[in-house]
Amino acid sequence: MLALHRISHHFGGVRALDDVTLTVEKGGIQGLIGPNGAGKTTLFNVITGLFRPSEGTLSFEGHNLLQMPPHRIATCGIARTFQNIRLFSEMTLIDNVVVGMHARLAYGTLGWMLRTRAFRQAEAGARQQARQLLERVGLAGHDNELAGNLSYGNQRKLEIARALAAEPRLLLLDEPVAGMNSTEKNEIMSLVKSLRQDHMTVLLIEHDMRFVMGLCDTLAVLNFGHVIAQGSPAQIQANPAVIEAYLGQEESA
Ligand SMILES: Nc1ncnc2c1ncn2[C@@H]1O[C@H](COP(=O)(O)OP(=O)(O)OP(=O)(O)O)[C@@H](O)[C@H]1O
Ligand SMILES: [Mg+2]
Repeated sequence: MLALHRISHHFGGVRALDDVTLTVEKGGIQGLIGPNGAGKTTLFNVITGLFRPSEGTLSFEGHNLLQMPPHRIATCGIARTFQNIRLFSEMTLIDNVVVGMHARLAYGTLGWMLRTRAFRQAEAGARQQARQLLERVGLAGHDNELAGNLSYGNQRKLEIARALAAEPRLLLLDEPVAGMNSTEKNEIMSLVKSLRQDHMTVLLIEHDMRFVMGLCDTLAVLNFGHVIAQGSPAQIQANPAVIEAYLGQEESA
């Protein structure tokens, strides 16, 4: 579904991604792990068009993503959440989710200005759908609260609802359970499993190994911008290069 071939991205002298070749198969949950600074978030930023890699090719369902601006990539069927939460904190939960539908709603600027019948119908439909998404991520009944007043864990859930509002075929989650308690982590695990049942493909970055190993079908490991291993959770846990990369991190911490 997604194919990165020999992708490199440098920040000055830092080789954040160095000759990365990686594929994501349709329909599964793939984990992307690796020590701090390994290049995981940079990889998401490249996939979603925020960064243009200096080398390599990148395709999604046969489309060349490197020729598309970020909003086109979004309408192609890729949505994401951010490691550093990006919500409209002064807006309600429901409005944050409706924003996520923006790319799909086709009533046009004139419809919005004139509040045409088509616009009002689309708007009512969008709000109904947003309510269902809030319920799906476990935020039912909070529709009209301000996003900024939510707990950290609930803000992460709202980010997922907003990403789902775009109806993506590929969902990218950057540390979805960071800062969550174990109950919330279990809720997110069930949610992501239900997305797989709905035939959505998920690529997720996460440091919580219990979460990653319990959820992912396959894993890729990045270290210093290189893919050092790919395989099943069991294969990755037994891989000497992966163990070495994580031990090195503990020693330097
Ligand atoms: N916008 C940027 N400008 C300069 N350097 C950057 C930028 N973004 C990332 N880097 C550097 O690129 C490298 C990879 O960073 P990245 O954020 O992709 O790592 P990560 O694997 O997501 O780490 P973490 O697990 O801590 O989130 C790091 O050395 C980081 O300092
Ligand atoms: Mg990161």
